[in-house]
Amino acid sequence: MYEILSKVRRLIPNRGKRYSFYDVGFHGDKYLIQLVDSLIKDCRYFIETGANVGTTLAYMAKTYPHIECISCEPDKGAYREAVKNTSSYTNSRLFNETSQQFISRLREKMADLFSEKCLFWLDAHGYGFDWPLKEEVEFITSNFGSGLILIDDFLVPGEECFKYDMYKGQTCSYDFIKDSICKDKNHRVYYPAYTDRTSNHHPLTGWGLISFGCERELNIPDDLKSKINGPIDFG
Ligand SMILES: C[S@@+](CC[C@H](N)C(=O)[O-])C[C@H]1O[C@@H](n2cnc3c(N)ncnc32)[C@H](O)[C@@H]1O
Repeated sequence: MYEILSKVRRLIPNRGKRYSFYDVGFHGDKYLIQLVDSLIKDCRYFIETGANVGTTLAYMAKTYPHIECISCEPDKGAYREAVKNTSSYTNSRLFNETSQQFISRLREKMADLFSEKCLFWLDAHGYGFDWPLKEEVEFITSNFGSGLILIDDFLVPGEECFKYDMYKGQTCSYDFIKDSICKDKNHRVYYPAYTDRTSNHHPLTGWGLISFGCERELNIPDDLKSKINGPIDFG
């Protein structure tokens, strides 16, 4: 009996959830990785929501040892894997909680970060938890003075080759979050301008970048300029 059960567990690991760890973050998308490399230069913190098994968290902590990398993951199995995958990086901190709880933690215990320039990677969705994207955008843009928000699985307008997410009939897109962006701060929106898939392990996945409270447009490196579309004029 025990043998049969352990065979079944091996065939259906973690009750159907896939816990796959990769050496490289951000879906292994070469251009997104280059963009992150230029954005992080101005930041002291990388803040992620939805770590899963810590692929992007470990990548950031390993690649940028001088950056504090903080994330949350409510799924116990994924969290345990993420802890293992990030345990050798002293600049990484991970909380076993939802983004909604993580937001309360930032507000109540880590408010000193509000004056720091942070790069956010909002990627909390699925696994049966409530989708926190609007709350995240509202909290970040109202409390942090300025910052950079990358949203994963985002609809890239006019580019059907990019996959994006939908929850309960709502599309992960600028239209969905635009009213959650703090009205007192300026913001700019950027999208990918490439259509080639550079990842060995993931399909082409949409993203959006929102800079808020920043005086100037982003300084995109010359070799990346043709790959990034923005700032978008919503005129
Ligand atoms: C696509 S995976 C994240 C991948 C990871 N960010 C990376 O780049 O390696 C999405 C994760 O979000 C988590 N999640 C779902 N709802 C969440 C919520 N409300 N708060 C925080 N995490 C959530 C899921 O458990 C899942 O592990």
